[in-house]
Amino acid sequence: MKPSVFITRRLPESGLRLLRDRFAVSVHETPAPIDRATLKNGVSRAEALICLLSDRIDAEILDCGSRLKIVANYAVGYNNIDIAAARQRKILVTNTPGVLTNATAELAFALIITLTRKILAADRFTRQGLFIGWDPLLLLGDELSGKTLGIVGMGRIGQSLAEKARAFGMSVIYHNRRPLDQATETRLKAAYCPFEALLARADVISIHAPLTEESRHLFDRRAFEKIKPGSFLINTARGEIVDEAALAEALASGRIKGAGLDVYEREPAVTGELMKMDNVVLLPHIGSATVETRAAMAVMAAKNVIAGLMGETPANLIPEMSDRC
Ligand code: GLV
Ligand code: GLV
Repeated sequence: MKPSVFITRRLPESGLRLLRDRFAVSVHETPAPIDRATLKNGVSRAEALICLLSDRIDAEILDCGSRLKIVANYAVGYNNIDIAAARQRKILVTNTPGVLTNATAELAFALIITLTRKILAADRFTRQGLFIGWDPLLLLGDELSGKTLGIVGMGRIGQSLAEKARAFGMSVIYHNRRPLDQATETRLKAAYCPFEALLARADVISIHAPLTEESRHLFDRRAFEKIKPGSFLINTARGEIVDEAALAEALASGRIKGAGLDVYEREPAVTGELMKMDNVVLLPHIGSATVETRAAMAVMAAKNVIAGLMGETPANLIPEMSDRC
């Protein structure tokens, strides 16, 4: 009998095709997040699971997978998976790094420009028929050239954003658990900065850190008290890194000028006050949502499953597991 692969949501064909050639593939086709009972049932019959960042894969789910060998997350972030529980059960965990770097950095940049040039307000203005002629003082935004971008989390995505920002004439400072090596700093013209100094200096802050115990609520009330007045905050990483209530307060008081969010603390729920604010751009977690990237992620997840079920080491084993091999 062919090994079974359970997939919690329809993925691009590029990945499904690779899997159907080799395995019995079962896809949860309902276009909504899978419920726990259906997830448990699917896992109980599978050697491999491909799941989404919104699927919480904890010990209880893993315990249903008596035959489960690999969990392939269809995402680069894997805070949705209990890694210690997977290790204990000798279940491999993989993610999809690299292929979504550019798409996510592009989206972060799109949020930056949308906010600083008031794109949404300008679009509404035009559609409302308010454009009666060119006006020297109409919808004046903030120029990026000459401003400072503060990147929090300088992995692949943060570095890709740094390159894009340099092309727009911005200076780049960053905070990261560890500073980059000298050669990379020089290439990116990015300067390491302690977190609080970055808060005080950056005109635009963009978050690209993974969600960990250290990064949870990194942007809390204290951080917003330190942040440069009139700055902008962009989050395309994980919602729980920002205390959304504190963010809403900082926006309401005018402490910060605007926020661009692709992720939420209680995703998919969005704090009600943010919904009502004009200086906030709200996106439905679409950082990696390009045709190219989503197809590449599907191929990557499929190849990880193939390797895992063939007894080989998947190319994208998460770092916490790479000492197994
Ligand atoms: C998206 O948020 C991802 O982690 O891939
Ligand atoms: C994710 O790919 C990152 O390291 O930024």
